Amino acid sequence: MSEPIARINVRSLVSMKQRGEKITMLTAYDYPTAQMLDAAGVHCLLVGDSLGMVVQGHDTTIPVTLEQMIYHGEIVARGAKRAMVIVDLPFPVGQINVTHTVKAAAKILKQTQCQAVKMEGGHQQADSIAALVDAGIPTIAHIGLRPQSVHAIGGYRVQRDADRLMKDALAAQSAGAFCVLMECVPSDLAKEVTQSLKVPTIGIGAGPHCDGQVLVTNDLLGWNGGTVPKFVRQYAQLQQQAKEAIEGYCRDVQTGDFPAPKESF
Ligand code: KIV
Repeated sequence: MSEPIARINVRSLVSMKQRGEKITMLTAYDYPTAQMLDAAGVHCLLVGDSLGMVVQGHDTTIPVTLEQMIYHGEIVARGAKRAMVIVDLPFPVGQINVTHTVKAAAKILKQTQCQAVKMEGGHQQADSIAALVDAGIPTIAHIGLRPQSVHAIGGYRVQRDADRLMKDALAAQSAGAFCVLMECVPSDLAKEVTQSLKVPTIGIGAGPHCDGQVLVTNDLLGWNGGTVPKFVRQYAQLQQQAKEAIEGYCRDVQTGDFPAPKESF
């Protein structure tokens, strides 16, 4: 009988920081993507509420519901054997009150079988982070650019307030967050925060000094049409390749080349 696969957990991530080993995180919204990322050895799969933009075609993450996060979280968790699966708390969970936040996060953990949640917030949400951790729900704090506050901050822009960033990071760590995710902050600030924390930092648009990196998988694979943010490195152009494959199929159907005898009964 084969050995059960050991799953990445909160302690593995802290030891990776201590050993100076970089953590890899990518978004996943469905079962085949989760299987593929897990097989490729990605440490953490994030069921991000970015699915509102990437999968549902909205302009922001704000319309995404708790039920939708649970649906995607459940199918991703089923596809991941080794990676830690983290599900985002959608807007406005995490921003209303502590009880509401714990109830919603507990529902996510119970119904999806994920291992952790992520919520947008720092010092102002420290009570909610602490309550989640007290309830046994491992929590990542998402600071810097918080996409759920896009209207309040006037767009998706680099966050340069060093005092605020450090205050948010330290408050999240004190509240018990096992990891701090920083989005769109200058590299030198992300470096300072990373050096000041015992828990690992994960960056997106936060430079090379974080303990780990996260990207939206569809951006990395060229699976979304259009442009990608400056901080993305594209490793493939899958949408173009897929379009060419579909055009080939349409051509073959129209010329009568498909199906051939070997594809028929
Ligand atoms: O929702 C998401 O996918 C995220 C990442 C972009 C960090 O929060």
